[in-house]
Amino acid sequence: MDEEPPQPDDPGRDHTAAQNKRARTDSDTSTSVESLESTRTLESEDLEFINEHERVYGNQSYYMPCDQSEQDRLTIQHQVFVYALKGQLTTTKVTPLTSRILDLGTGPGHWAVAMAQRYPHAEVVGVDMAVWDIETTEEDGGTGRVTWEIDDLDVWGVEEEMDELTSRLETYNPFRDPAARNLTESPSRSRLRDPESQSQSPSITLPESGPSFNPYMLEPEVQPGWHFSQPFDLVHLRAMRGTFAYWEDVYAEIYNNLRPGGWIEIADYELVLPEMPNSTSQPGETTDDAPMHPGQQLPFAALIKLYKSMMEASFKSGRPLGTYYMHPTYLEDAGFKDIRTTFVNVPVGQWPEDEEQRKIGKMFLIILLESLEPHSLRLLTRHGDAEKIWSAEEVRECVELCKKEILDWSEGLVDERRREGWCANFKWIIGRKSKNA
Ligand SMILES: C[S@@+](CC[C@H](N)C(=O)[O-])C[C@H]1O[C@@H](n2cnc3c(N)ncnc32)[C@H](O)[C@@H]1O
Repeated sequence: MDEEPPQPDDPGRDHTAAQNKRARTDSDTSTSVESLESTRTLESEDLEFINEHERVYGNQSYYMPCDQSEQDRLTIQHQVFVYALKGQLTTTKVTPLTSRILDLGTGPGHWAVAMAQRYPHAEVVGVDMAVWDIETTEEDGGTGRVTWEIDDLDVWGVEEEMDELTSRLETYNPFRDPAARNLTESPSRSRLRDPESQSQSPSITLPESGPSFNPYMLEPEVQPGWHFSQPFDLVHLRAMRGTFAYWEDVYAEIYNNLRPGGWIEIADYELVLPEMPNSTSQPGETTDDAPMHPGQQLPFAALIKLYKSMMEASFKSGRPLGTYYMHPTYLEDAGFKDIRTTFVNVPVGQWPEDEEQRKIGKMFLIILLESLEPHSLRLLTRHGDAEKIWSAEEVRECVELCKKEILDWSEGLVDERRREGWCANFKWIIGRKSKNA
């Protein structure tokens, strides 16, 4: 792999999504280099390694790092996803006719490699904008027919109506209904869909119905899109919250890149707070009837603070976090049929009696603790929450408090009785493009 050494921060450079776009091996205009048995585009001059507060990022816009610690965390997270599905890799049906599979935002490529191993008749394409240590994934998981591509998939950019989006946060409670769609829906897009509000907002320009006509151009203008050379039978995305602002466009693009009868699958999870003692100031649910003692600290005060601030920062960044992007109406609107969601509760910590469940609970606890910093550091130090921009030290201090809260709870130090039952909600949503499309 032709990697560049990490470069120092260079905030002066302009790094828009479109500028980072480059040819893909899968497209007609490919340049590729063989790497073991797979292929990846190697245009190292386009690749970035940005050192920021002792973490390495793949570009200026995506909020999570792509360094070794994050790769280690994603390795364990992949195992949890697979355990949760009892060894399955997908909730769709892969048949001998499934010949092309696409993994969007493949990261270190664990899912892509596992799919290629399990379904050797299929060609798997893994796309990511960052450089990961794919060789280690292949050494551990085995090589198969995987084509690796480095590409920035966000051809649409960030939400522009930020004031309105941020004001929606005032009524948004991430712990009550994290998967609700409406509160986080892009304001500019929802207005485009709603003819009444369009007439009240003359400043919004409606898109033209097709490519604009220019008699001096022989080729039609290239529209934003991914331009894969051949369609796929299955397109998969996992843990991609906060990656795009315009999920409507992402799902429309996936639909266009599927064969008739092909499947989309999106997987992610949401941490649910355990039941709390009664307290009026608690933003989460208060379903237990045992009251708090006067002066007693809320069990997850730091975690709630960090989570809320992180959500606020993500809204300010123009790419809101949350699993709202898995709402079934997104797939319905894009034209998908046979939409189905699979839910699996994954224990947080080692409270289950069942040995297998204890093992998954322990693994999830590790990735939960290790996810706090990579999820929050860049968002809070760059965008800040509703009150302020955080320093890296403040983020790390809060992360340490959160870790203590989580560990104390999962070890039963706060309340032996309540530690049982704490779970994260893992979700897979699938939809199918009609065979007659
Ligand atoms: C949280 S990781 C999940 C990785 C993998 N899907 C998994 O489940 O292990 C999100 C991935 O999305 C990639 N990503 C984020 N924005 C992207 C973009 N605009 N284009 C391509 N990949 C992107 C990141 O580089 C990262 O590898």
